[in-house]
Amino acid sequence: RKKVTIQHLRQMKQSETPIAMVTAYDFPTGRACEASGVDITFVGDSLAQVCLGYDSTTKLSLDEIIHHARAVARGSKNPFLVVDMPFGSYHVSCEDAVRNAVRLIQEGGAECVKMEGGEELAPTVRELTRMGIPVMAHLGLLPQRVSSLSGYRVQGKDAASARAVYNSALALEDAGACSIVLEAIPHLLGTHITNKLSVPTIGIGAGPNTNGQVLVWDDLMTRWEGRKAKFVRRFADVRKEETKGLSEYVNAVKARAFPDIANESYEMDEAEWRQFL
Ligand code: KIV
Ligand code: NA
Repeated sequence: RKKVTIQHLRQMKQSETPIAMVTAYDFPTGRACEASGVDITFVGDSLAQVCLGYDSTTKLSLDEIIHHARAVARGSKNPFLVVDMPFGSYHVSCEDAVRNAVRLIQEGGAECVKMEGGEELAPTVRELTRMGIPVMAHLGLLPQRVSSLSGYRVQGKDAASARAVYNSALALEDAGACSIVLEAIPHLLGTHITNKLSVPTIGIGAGPNTNGQVLVWDDLMTRWEGRKAKFVRRFADVRKEETKGLSEYVNAVKARAFPDIANESYEMDEAEWRQFL
């Protein structure tokens, strides 16, 4: 497979070839993306909840996501590699955003950074783009702003908020964003934004007509219990298999049924053993 680039992603939009993006958090998930034809491997800050056990993405540090991004980068070579800028890492100033984005590229292996927010981020996106750092924008439901949004809820449902999301999309494209994630918005709005932009849109709960789709690894694999968002489809049930395998292992150890002496243990030459004794 060929290396996926920004140009390649733009061509996919033009030729109406859907873009498959998924989150990855470590070397094996990165390898799986590489092996299964994923176009964009994405180290999302959902890392905070699904891998590190934090109750919010806002607790994730830059050092933590870099540690995971490096591992993903070692496994995922051909897909385009995008890494989330954690909460706080692009909020203070453009200068700070550039410094932190440079770390994600230099230390984390990112080819593109992603950040959540609307028009207010246009100057930051412009500056990063000017410096040759590709930016993926993220509009609609913004998990890093869960407190100010009063929870995880669909965005852009009324005309005024739909207009705000749409205007932000235009402003961020104008500022240089190479792609935009649209999270939890009505499908009509997802389609409209996709048609009006020249850069690819990637949807998560934005309907079937965005240029690509993204899901969280642990959601599509069913690796954790808890409430399923409407936009999640479970493509596998890994947790069921893991639970079954792990309890069978524990039971086998307790029953002294593992390991088997003939097939799962090492032999020693009898003469050597006698000499040892
Ligand atoms: O961190 C994340 O998982 C995201 C979603 C868009 C998948 O930002
Ligand atoms: Na994220």
